[in-house]
Amino acid sequence: MPPFDLILRRARLQDHSVPQDIAIAAGTFAAIAPRLDATAREEIDCSDRLAIPPFVESHIHLDSADTAGEPRWNESGTLFEGIEIWRDRKQKLSIEDVEQRAIATLKTQAAQGVLHVRSHADVSESSLIALKGLLAVREEVKDWMNLQVVAFPQDGLYGSPQQLELMEEALKLGADAIGGIPHYELTREDGVRSLQQIFDWAEQYDKLIDIHCDEIDDDQSRFLEVMVAQTLRRDLGSRVTASHTTAFHSYNNGYAQKLLGSIRRTQLNCVANPLINITLQGRTDTYPKRRGVTRVKELWQQGNNVSLGHDCIRDPWYSLGTGNMLNVAHMAVHICQMTGREQVKACLDMVTHNGAKTLNLDDRYGIALGRPASLVVLDASDEFEAIRTQAAALYTLSHGRILACTPAARPKLFLPEPSPRL
Ligand code: FE2
Repeated sequence: MPPFDLILRRARLQDHSVPQDIAIAAGTFAAIAPRLDATAREEIDCSDRLAIPPFVESHIHLDSADTAGEPRWNESGTLFEGIEIWRDRKQKLSIEDVEQRAIATLKTQAAQGVLHVRSHADVSESSLIALKGLLAVREEVKDWMNLQVVAFPQDGLYGSPQQLELMEEALKLGADAIGGIPHYELTREDGVRSLQQIFDWAEQYDKLIDIHCDEIDDDQSRFLEVMVAQTLRRDLGSRVTASHTTAFHSYNNGYAQKLLGSIRRTQLNCVANPLINITLQGRTDTYPKRRGVTRVKELWQQGNNVSLGHDCIRDPWYSLGTGNMLNVAHMAVHICQMTGREQVKACLDMVTHNGAKTLNLDDRYGIALGRPASLVVLDASDEFEAIRTQAAALYTLSHGRILACTPAARPKLFLPEPSPRL
C-alpha cells in the first residue's frame, strides 16, 4: 500500500463499533479500516478518542461579533434594545473593522473544531459595509474555513425606502443566501409580503434562504407557516432555513402539532440558538417565565432537520459567548430537556451533521472515502462524554492538514496527607 500523508490511529468513529485507522492522501480520506498496514509521513495516535466531522456553526452574526459595550451595554437584555444599540454601532463600521473582528472570531472557532460557518451580514446600512467586509473575509479564509454569508435586512425589508435595492445589490455582490425578518416589519401584511419577495429573489438569483423567523414571544407571530407554504409551493425544500422561530415555544399545542407536520412535508431546516434565546426571550414575563427556545425536541422527534447556532459572540444582544459549539449543544440539552442518552447524542448531531444539511454541504462533509479530510478529534470516548464534559478539540484537521491542536487538560490534585487516626 502506498505511503499516505497522514494516518490517525485508533480513532473512534460514530458509525463503527471498534476503533479505526484513518489514512489521508491529497487532502481526502483515502482508507479507513480497523488496522492499516501502511506508512505515512505523519501519524497521530488517537487512543480511542472520538473523531467526528468538523463542527458546523449554522447561525452567527460575525459583523457584530466582539462589539459588546460599544457604544453602550444592553441593560434591558432585550432583542429590541440590542437592535437599537447596533443601529448606533453600525454607523462606525468600516471594512477593516468588520474584517478584523470577523477573522479573529473565525480563528477562535477554528481552534475549537468549527470549519463551516453561516454568518448573517446586516445589509440595512447604505454602503453595505458589513456585507462587503464579510465577502472579503470569505475569500481570505477559504483555505481553512468555509464561510457562507446571508444578506440580512436587520431593520426590515421595508425599513427604509432603499432597502429593496440594497438587497438586490447584496445578492449581485455574491451573498450565498437571502435573509429576512418578517416579525419585525410594521404589519403582518408587510411580513408576508417580505417573505414572498425573498422567495422570488431566491428563485431568480438561485440563492439559499435563511430567515430570522418569529424571534419574538408573541404567540400570534406566525410567519413560519408562511415559509412552509412558500417552500412547499415552490418545491425549495432543504434550500430553506427558518432560524430562531422562538414564538413556536408559545403556540398552543394544537396549532404547533399541525405546524410540525407541515414542516416535515417541506424538508426545510430549523435553526435554534439556545444560548441567546434563553437570555433574550421571556423578558416581559413575570412568572411563570417562558424559556423561549423553539420546540427543538419535538422537531427532532418528528424527523425534521434541526441544527444549532451560537448566534452572537460578545455583541449588543449577547455579551458572552466562546465560539465553542459543544457549549451550544450542552445548553440545548438543558433548555430543551433532551437528557435521554439518544437525545444527548442528537444534540451533538445538531452541531455537526444536521448543520451540514442546513448549509447544503452535501458530499463536501463527513468522514467517508473520497471526501475532504476534515475532522475533529475530541478528548472524549463517545458522543455523550463529548457533550457532558464539553470536550476539548485535541486535533482539528482541515483538508488533510492539522489546523489546530489543544493539549489535553489533565489537572493535578494535591490532596493533603490524611490525618493520623487516633
Ligand atoms: Fe440571529
